[in-house]
Amino acid sequence: MAESMSGLKRTHRCGELSAANAGDNVTVMGWVARQRNKGGIIFVDLRDRSGILQIIFEEGDVGTEGFAKAEKLRSEYVIAVTGRVERRAGAVNENLSTGEIEVRANQVRVLSEALTPPFPIEEDTRTKEELRLKYRYLDLRRPDLQEKIMLRSKIAMAIRDFLAEEGFLEIETPMLTKSTPEGARDYLVPSRVHPGTFYALPQSPQIFKQLLMCSGYDRYFQIARCFRDEDLRADRQPEFTQVDMELSFVDAEDVMEVNERLIRFICREAIGLDVALPIRRMPWQEAMDRFGSDKPDTRFGMELKDVSKTVAECGFGVFTSALENGGSVRGINVKGQAQMPRKKIDALVDFAKGYGAKGLAYLCVLPDGTYKSSFAKFMTEEQLQALVAAMEGEAGDLLLFAADKNPIVYNVLGGLRLELGKQLDLIDNKRFDFLWVTEFPLFEWSEEENRYMAMHHPFTMPMEEDLALLETQPGKVRAKAYDIVLNGTELGGGSVRISDEKIQERMFVALGFTQEDAYKRFGFLLDAFKYGVPPHAGLAYGLDRLVMLLTGAESIREVIAFPKVKDASCLMTDAPNVVDEKQLDELSIGIVEPEE
Ligand code: AMO
Ligand code: AMP
Repeated sequence: MAESMSGLKRTHRCGELSAANAGDNVTVMGWVARQRNKGGIIFVDLRDRSGILQIIFEEGDVGTEGFAKAEKLRSEYVIAVTGRVERRAGAVNENLSTGEIEVRANQVRVLSEALTPPFPIEEDTRTKEELRLKYRYLDLRRPDLQEKIMLRSKIAMAIRDFLAEEGFLEIETPMLTKSTPEGARDYLVPSRVHPGTFYALPQSPQIFKQLLMCSGYDRYFQIARCFRDEDLRADRQPEFTQVDMELSFVDAEDVMEVNERLIRFICREAIGLDVALPIRRMPWQEAMDRFGSDKPDTRFGMELKDVSKTVAECGFGVFTSALENGGSVRGINVKGQAQMPRKKIDALVDFAKGYGAKGLAYLCVLPDGTYKSSFAKFMTEEQLQALVAAMEGEAGDLLLFAADKNPIVYNVLGGLRLELGKQLDLIDNKRFDFLWVTEFPLFEWSEEENRYMAMHHPFTMPMEEDLALLETQPGKVRAKAYDIVLNGTELGGGSVRISDEKIQERMFVALGFTQEDAYKRFGFLLDAFKYGVPPHAGLAYGLDRLVMLLTGAESIREVIAFPKVKDASCLMTDAPNVVDEKQLDELSIGIVEPEE
């Protein structure tokens, strides 16, 4: 039976009380985390979002009726308690902020009874995630999850404070819109009024923020929900949140400068971390050559080395034919792992194949200076020595090589490097390595579409020094684009936009769009540019990823209050689900049963 809280007013949150409050009369409200009946004394751990507080009930203080109520308390009951803060008579609990005190109850009300929850509400839970997501409202009561969600709020507030101070305006852009070209599949919303037509949910506010620059708002930001129907991974959700911004009359340097200060501010406010500025910059080509990745984890070494020249004349066909086909041979030096058991090396070969390699060649430099290798028999002693030297190999090292087209070599060795970094515990988890990756290629070749695609988006400005190559060697053109990377995760990305009609036209031609295609898709933006457009540039962070990394969460699901699972469904609401025939009729939609 539930009692009313009328006449009572909460004076403190549980975790706000400390020894400094000893002697105070307080009223606290929250959830029963635990009730222990020790005969004449009942202890209750009371929980709210601020922490846990011990309440002590004795009949002499709360009366017979109150004591009877306390006896009946079960986990997750919601109660209100009035009493006096006292220093603990029993042992001090070092693990609690309130560990030195307890509240001696003189009044208790049961505001709500509760069923026994399907899993214990506790820190470091071992309950399966599926069950927790089905009862997400209970999972969200767990202190470690609450801490992350509260930190997320703090980070969002810090971002607003900082950007407002820097003269940014917070402006909302539509959720029901036309698809913007970010490359993922759109979520569509049928229109009732215009049968057969659809809105798209925004993949990002990209076009709208550029329009806002055309309209003179100068500095815009938005904490914006974005929707992308793509294959989900640990750091992706179908709907996610961007911290999105755009600035007028700026170049790439200005955007990076203000964002470095933003990052430093967020880190200091949220987790007390001091980020040294300026943040390191690395051109894309260097990131690929050294780390095999455009979002390198720079917390450890094991960098890639190009040994193409060293092996050019050798007798190992795998290497030489890769070179003849325009590829390269590169390797990583796994220090001190020459004695790695064959089984483990085979597992690495399989891992590499998972990344698209045809194979993985290895060379163990044994402590006695001899080699154990999958290809040594194809090389002379001098060639082997030169190869080991090129890899800066020493006795005891394991050298791994991939030979193929460059993108595959990068992918394979970049992936292996990360895997070995984890396996061999080379990564310092306490470090926060921020890095700007710059000078991205403007285009990437799509085998699927058999044409160049914009690597970032079609409005990204080429680097001035490469403009002449736009028609002749599009693959060589670098973009005024930049990504911010933290510990091997792409946190955000942006670019200077094209604000010159002529360059935009050349860009569309390079992308294989006709003028008509371009107009059909983003005519309103191209038109807007005709009426006076300032030079502008911007950037967007994935807020979920930022919070994930700053809280040390394993997945972005832990920092989103109501996340979706791998197949993009919500286990709590069961979305997506079927709708009434009537709703479909109104939308002029018929369902075609998918074929088996
Ligand atoms: P981009 O597509 O790189 O750029 O997105 C910016 C950042 O958003 C995050 N992100 C995601 N987070 C969670 N789940 C997803 N499915 C997901 N997809 C992207 C990433 C990414 O770095 N309009 C441009 C930005 C600009 O040019 O200003 C854009 O959307 O952290
Ligand atoms: P094979 O000639 O296919 O028997 O391969 C000989 C050795 O070279 C094996 O250790 C293979 O794993 C390795 N290998 C094959 N293809 C490649 C490749 N593209 N890059 C690096 N090593 C390879």
